[in-house]
Amino acid sequence: MEIIKWSKDLESDVQAFNGEHKFLVDTINNIYTLLKEGKKDEAKKLLVEKAVSYTDKHFKHEEEVMERYGYPKEELEKHKKIHRFFVRYVVETLAPKIENGGDKEFRDALNFIIGWLVMHIKNMDVKGYGKWFKEKGIEVPDKMVEI
Ligand SMILES: [Fe+2]
Ligand SMILES: [Fe+2]
Repeated sequence: MEIIKWSKDLESDVQAFNGEHKFLVDTINNIYTLLKEGKKDEAKKLLVEKAVSYTDKHFKHEEEVMERYGYPKEELEKHKKIHRFFVRYVVETLAPKIENGGDKEFRDALNFIIGWLVMHIKNMDVKGYGKWFKEKGIEVPDKMVEI
């Protein structure tokens, strides 16, 4: 079941990050499917153990690349802060809600994560560094972070 569909506006010219974003989208879709099938424990595990740590790795990868190619400092700091906010919010606020709540809490948390990720990829990744790298003619190597 696809709750998020991959679309062109989620893509930039940075293939490594497109690959990482696609992996995140697939993971969220898998979590959603598990939840629908009533496999709540597996869904929880996939979200709290795998998706969060992959997201964190992906964020660090983006930050490291933006820094390496001289992305404007103010923008970089803003981007980093937003990444940190999201990880902290998921770990400290959403994970306990999922842990202690029922299906509704889980679905609400997933919906928040989906909305946030899609917005972030479109507005800060694609329209932020994606546009900037393109304007500067910078080609970022294709290597994705290890899972
Ligand atoms: Fe991203
Ligand atoms: Fe980002």
